[in-house]
Amino acid sequence: MMKNKWWQEAVVYQVYPRSFQDTDGDGMGDIPGIIQRLPYLKKLGIDVIWLSPVYKSPNADNGYDISDYQAIQPAFGSMADIKKLFKAAHELNLKIMMDLVVNHTSDEHAWFQQSRQSKDNPYRDFYIWRDPVDGHEPNNWASDFGGRAWAFDEQTGQYYLHIFSKKQPDLNWENPKLRQAIYDMMNWWLEQGVDGFRMDVINLISKDMQFPDDPSVDFGKHSSSMEMVANGPRVHEFLREMNEKVLSQADIITVGETPGVTPADAIKYTGFDAHELQMVFQFEHTVIDDSKDGLGKWSDERFDLVDLKRVLSKWQVALDGKAWNSLYWNNHDRPRVVSRFGDERPAYRELSAKMLATVLHFMQGTPYIYQGEEIGMTNIAYDDINEYQDIDTLNAYQDLVVNQKIVSPEKMMTYVYHSSRDNARTPMQWDTSTQAGFTTGKPWLNINKNYPQINVANAVDDSNSIFYYYQRLIKLRHELSIMTTGHYELLAADDADVYIYKRTTADEELLVIANFTDKKLQREFDLPVGSTRVISNYVDDTGHTLRPYEAKVYRYDK
Ligand code: NOJ
Repeated sequence: MMKNKWWQEAVVYQVYPRSFQDTDGDGMGDIPGIIQRLPYLKKLGIDVIWLSPVYKSPNADNGYDISDYQAIQPAFGSMADIKKLFKAAHELNLKIMMDLVVNHTSDEHAWFQQSRQSKDNPYRDFYIWRDPVDGHEPNNWASDFGGRAWAFDEQTGQYYLHIFSKKQPDLNWENPKLRQAIYDMMNWWLEQGVDGFRMDVINLISKDMQFPDDPSVDFGKHSSSMEMVANGPRVHEFLREMNEKVLSQADIITVGETPGVTPADAIKYTGFDAHELQMVFQFEHTVIDDSKDGLGKWSDERFDLVDLKRVLSKWQVALDGKAWNSLYWNNHDRPRVVSRFGDERPAYRELSAKMLATVLHFMQGTPYIYQGEEIGMTNIAYDDINEYQDIDTLNAYQDLVVNQKIVSPEKMMTYVYHSSRDNARTPMQWDTSTQAGFTTGKPWLNINKNYPQINVANAVDDSNSIFYYYQRLIKLRHELSIMTTGHYELLAADDADVYIYKRTTADEELLVIANFTDKKLQREFDLPVGSTRVISNYVDDTGHTLRPYEAKVYRYDK
């Protein structure tokens, strides 16, 4: 057996800086705020912090539209602040992974400003420009945020490609000069002390330069051609080059965000001898409750546990021994897990949050916790669509309700409550003071009204809180090597209410049991003599009777 790499034994915590901790009263989180909260993260016990983008940006997409890769967003702080953060984190033995957004830049990036000047500008080829075809867009691709993926630029009479918003032109990875500029920038960040990269939509960087039409596009339904451009012809060549020129030069952690990947694709990106990335974020379990009417995530369907088990198990089994899973329930793009797969009603919120944490943390892979998940923060439901800030939510509302009129305003709000990215982006709830201790000013996005009950101060004061449960899970992961290495086996695949799986090594086993309902259930499972319960969200053990949202894990020798 190969020796584990440090990142295989680590637990990652994602910070969405804009919503984490404000220190200067402008209503937006900042880097000094992250520094101030490092002791809290240390207490939780995590190993790595993934920072969503902190680079200079006009914020058309909350920092995923970067106008300078080597400067910090002034509202977040300065270069001196980020260096202070690296230093302070390293002193606590915490690592920092930066978001790397290199499929596109902001249209305000100097490269694009140059590129749009003229067809013979040296930066023209840093982006993807095409002539109109019969006076129209070069093909029918749809932007992930609604509308077309091509924008016409008067100055030179050509279209540029933007898979995301018009303010996020796609970079042209065919151009070796662009690639080298990206590698230089990455190496520069490594020199500043960064410990890894989370790579935004990295499997979109290679496009089919023939630009074939997308047969599935339906503009009426706010469709996207993102998957059409995923896993393009040269993507592995580019990532191997990046690996050779940057990633292999240091002992860092890398995870690629890769919409639409199958396990076979993931093995190509992350196989132990692929020389590309260490992990990818797959999306399959995040789309199981997508719309049955072809509206993608704009849905209010409740998920089906059998589907969830099937998808997660497929990934556990397919990657075992070949590549490494990332394990996540939610992030800044996904609804809050306790609202989505758990039960946010007061009687069950804590129980179900702990149950979900148990299911995820006992799998094979590296767990990722999204800020606030460790205190069971829930989705948001603003009364008015205008209270939302997310470009994706606002565009979808405009397309489906206002322009196409295929969804009623009332129905659309139920979809927004279920799926909007702002569910995860409401500010972190630290305490019961005004604005939940997040800011002394007016928060950029309104705080969830449940903050007097759900906040860090309460959680840290209560030894039975979700926070301490996560702390125990993280500690167990550091202590029980079977949590890292054990093989996974799903039991009772067709059980619609209970998730049971095993982890196995040559000489021991873990049995993980989780009731996904608010009912008392009776289930058969074998428990060898000498089994010990390593963790549970209930104090006592009622054996084969599972109480609402009960989760428990047994360990025994084989
Ligand atoms: C994925 C990021 O997670 C999301 O927030 C962003 O809008 C898109 N990529 C575009 O960068």
